Amino acid sequence: MVKDETVKTYTTRTQKSKKLWEEAKEVVPGGIGSAVRYFEPYPFFISKAKGSRVWDVDGNEYLDLIMGYGINIAGHAHPAIVGAVKKQIEKGSVYTMPHEKTALYVKELLKRFPTMSMFQLANSGAEATMHAIRVARAYTGKDKIVKIEGCYHGQHDYLLISVDPPRAKAGPKWAPTRYIQSEGMPKDTVKNTLVAPFNDVAAMESLFKKHEGEIAALIMEPIMLNCGVVLPKKGYLRGIRKLTEEYNILLIFDEVKTGVRVAPGGASELYKIEPDIITLAKAIGGGLPLAAFGGKREIMESLRPIGRTSHGGTYCANPLSISAGLACLTQVMTNKAHRYMTELGNELSKGVRDVIEDVGVTACVNSIGPLGYVFFTDVEPVDYRTADATDLEKTWEFWFNMVNRGVLPWGPCHFEQWYVSVVHTKDEITKTIETSEEALRKVKAN
Ligand SMILES: Cc1ncc(COP(=O)(O)O)c(C=O)c1O
Repeated sequence: MVKDETVKTYTTRTQKSKKLWEEAKEVVPGGIGSAVRYFEPYPFFISKAKGSRVWDVDGNEYLDLIMGYGINIAGHAHPAIVGAVKKQIEKGSVYTMPHEKTALYVKELLKRFPTMSMFQLANSGAEATMHAIRVARAYTGKDKIVKIEGCYHGQHDYLLISVDPPRAKAGPKWAPTRYIQSEGMPKDTVKNTLVAPFNDVAAMESLFKKHEGEIAALIMEPIMLNCGVVLPKKGYLRGIRKLTEEYNILLIFDEVKTGVRVAPGGASELYKIEPDIITLAKAIGGGLPLAAFGGKREIMESLRPIGRTSHGGTYCANPLSISAGLACLTQVMTNKAHRYMTELGNELSKGVRDVIEDVGVTACVNSIGPLGYVFFTDVEPVDYRTADATDLEKTWEFWFNMVNRGVLPWGPCHFEQWYVSVVHTKDEITKTIETSEEALRKVKAN
C-alpha cells in the first residue's frame, strides 16, 4: 500500500482531475481511453504539453519522462514537426490514394535498417506485429509462432499471451504455460502460439526441437521493455539468431520501442544482429500514429498486390502521419541527437544508481542509453520472472513521490521505463536525480 500521506498529497494536488475522471467514467469504461492509463485512486488529466513538460488540469507542471511511451522522442510539439503537420494538413490529411511521401519515408527507414529491403506501413505497433506474423506464416507456410514470456506486442489475440502471467499460473520457468491475457479470447487462440523464457537459448532449442517443422517465426523484443528494462545477456541474441537459422524459423525483432531509440537502427544495429523481419512504431511517427514492418524482398513480396497475403487499412501511409515521421527522422533524429540522448540517459542511470547506494535502499537500475527503470530487487532481473519479483509497494511509493514532486518517472504501470528525449537538458537530468533521492528516502522510511 502506498502511504496515506503520499496519496493525500496526490489527491490534494489533483482535485480537478478527480472531478473530470468521475464525470468521464460515466461514459467511458474506467474514465480512461486505454486501460494502462488507470491507476488508483484515479489518474490525473493532462491539459497541454510542450518540449519536455506537461501540465495537468489543476495547473501542476511536470517534467515528463513518459514521453508518450517513447513516441515523443523529439519532445512534445517540436516546431519542426508542428510545421510539417500544419503544412500537410492544409493540403489534406488522408488521400487513400498513393502519394510521393510514402516511398520517401520508407527510404528514410531503410537508411536506418539497411538489412531490410522493404517496409510496409501501418498505424500502430499492434498492427505492425499482426502483419509481421501473418507475412511470416504466409512465407513459410507454417502456423505456429513462438513468443517470449513477458514480451508485449499489442492487443491482438495471437500475441496477447503470457505478457504478465500470474506466478501461480505461469508453469515452469524453462517451459512457461501459455497464459491467455484477456477474457474474450477463444481458448484455442493458444494452439498456435508457443511461449519461451527470455535469455535462455537451451529452453528455446528444446521448444524448437519439440515442434520441429511447425514453427513459422519467433517474435521477440530484443530488449524486453514491457517488464521494465531487461537486457539480453552477452551472446543470447546471437545464439537465438543461429538457432532460428538452424531450424529454418524466421526471426522477428519487435523494435516498436527500441527502433530509432537505442541506436538509429535500434537493437539490431546495437547488437549487430540481422533479423528476418523488423516491426516499428512509436518514435518513428514523430508523435503521430505511424508504424511499419519490414523484411527481405522475397518475404515482403508475399504481400498483396504482389503475393496473396493481406495488408491494408484506410489510414495506412496517410500523408499527415508520414509528414510528422519524415520531419522527425530527417530534421530531429540526427546521429548527433542520438548521441546526446544516449549520453544524457547514461548520466541519469548512473545518477540514480549512486542515489540508491547513498540512500541504502534495496534496488537496482537496469538501463540502456536513454531508457532505464528502477527495480526494487537485490539482483538485476534477466527475464520476466526475475523482473516480476520487484517490490510493487516500493515501486508505487517511489512513483507517487516523484509525481508529487513534479517528475513523471515512467508511465503509471510497474513495468514501463523512463524515456530521455532529445529535448531534455542536463539540468533536468540533475533535477530528476535529486528528486529520485527524495523519493527513495521516502521509500526507505516506509
Ligand atoms: C514492443 C511493443 N510492440 C508492440 C506494441 C503495441 O503498440 P501499439 O500500442 O502502438 O499498438 C507495444 C506497445 O507498447 C510494444 O511495446
